[in-house]
Amino acid sequence: MKKIVVGNWKMFGSNHHWKQFMSDLEPFLNPHIHVIVCPPFPYLFLATHKAIDIGAQNCHGSHEGPFTGEVSADMLRDVGCRYVIVGHSERRKHESDIQITQKVKAAKTAGLIPILCVGETKTERENDQTYPVIQQQLSGVLKENLLTEIIIAYEPVWAIGTGVSAGIRDIIDRHTFIRSLIPGTPILYGGSVSRHNAFDILSQPEVDGVLVGGASLDAFHFGDIINAGQQSLEKE
Ligand code: PGA
Repeated sequence: MKKIVVGNWKMFGSNHHWKQFMSDLEPFLNPHIHVIVCPPFPYLFLATHKAIDIGAQNCHGSHEGPFTGEVSADMLRDVGCRYVIVGHSERRKHESDIQITQKVKAAKTAGLIPILCVGETKTERENDQTYPVIQQQLSGVLKENLLTEIIIAYEPVWAIGTGVSAGIRDIIDRHTFIRSLIPGTPILYGGSVSRHNAFDILSQPEVDGVLVGGASLDAFHFGDIINAGQQSLEKE
């Protein structure tokens, strides 16, 4: 299977920055790595490229309605998105598991593939709650049988934006656990993935890809991560 490299641009950049990024990224793109980028809404159109899939960073759980400032999954599909991140920890703190499951449903109904993020906080990790927390965060999609056409991203909250990624052993164990609950679904790792650790992480057969935040803002860093994915395939 192709390795997947997702860039989550969060709320960064400008028209000028992302235009330059897309041109700098061009030489790194190759048919063996599935690249998805998730721009802020106003810049979605800047990521249009035949070798890149576009994802959004969030969607609403309803089809339409009087929800000022919100964007529906149908609208995202309509403007060319194929993916949407749901339940990212930077949003999860303001959302319930029920709302997140509703968003997964809305995304799938609209024909988008949700990238559902799960992962424990530092305190939960210290209290040995990692597995129950992941299981709880997946319980909505398990209960409602939303188990196909979905990607799971394991993103320990303490590793996001800290420069400290989870250890390889932990990543393998968490991915194996998630796979035991949802077999056959691609599972990504996210949390301080960089050009330095991407090869080690992507080389693990349990890891189908990476979700990259900070390092996806720079085309050359992101490009090196794509190259690391390619090298991990050559090693197999
Ligand atoms: P990071 O972010 O790579 O900057 O840690 C990952 C994410 O938030 O998805």
